[in-house]
Amino acid sequence: MQIKSAKFVISNTDPAKCPKSDRPEYAFIGRSNVGKSSLINMLTQHKKLAKTSSQPGKTQLINHFVINNEWYLVDLPGYGYAKVMRNQRNKWMGFIREYMLSRKNLYCVMVLIDVRLEPQELDMDFMNWLGVSGIPFAMVFTKADKLGKTQLDKNLAAYRREMLKSWEELPPQFVTSATSEAGKDEILDFIQQINEG
Ligand code: GTP
Ligand code: MG
Repeated sequence: MQIKSAKFVISNTDPAKCPKSDRPEYAFIGRSNVGKSSLINMLTQHKKLAKTSSQPGKTQLINHFVINNEWYLVDLPGYGYAKVMRNQRNKWMGFIREYMLSRKNLYCVMVLIDVRLEPQELDMDFMNWLGVSGIPFAMVFTKADKLGKTQLDKNLAAYRREMLKSWEELPPQFVTSATSEAGKDEILDFIQQINEG
């Protein structure tokens, strides 16, 4: 898929105030600082479409963007960081859950996972919740540029092993880097295929 246009639409904490559910929608989520906003900018080739920061907790709202006038891309706040943010975190998770359960046009949730880390309980719990809720999702490994090939393969294998403890089949998976642009065509083609039904 070629990105011809990418435009910011609206930011919300209230799922009821999100744009009309009239186009296919893909939401990007994951732990704070995992690289959600950076990945969105890489995919859309807009350096500043989504705000990024080295400080976790930059994205605090449900942010809708419309791509090619055809589908919605959604940048969400991160889940799970320092303890001091627990109140804020619970608030975010409240509206994120509500958003995910209420959006009928949410075709796939892209769950971002820092490929440098061993499988994290928080991510496993979140994917289990998606599964139980019947919300389709894909795993998107980020920051692949930070590992050599051997370590990368080892970490990916560890994640797959962990997933297979609770899932019979693995969800679609993508290995990405916002700096090298790895995974860009794969994700855009995946979205295009779903959009075309
Ligand atoms: P919150 O909105 O705070 O939840 O964070 P986020 O998940 O949107 O992360 P963001 O895109 O703001 O990136 C966090 C930090 O990681 C920034 O310093 C980015 O430059 C860096 N980063 C993101 N993706 C990559 C990547 O693929 N490779 C490298 N090397 N750094 C990355
Ligand atoms: Mg962000």
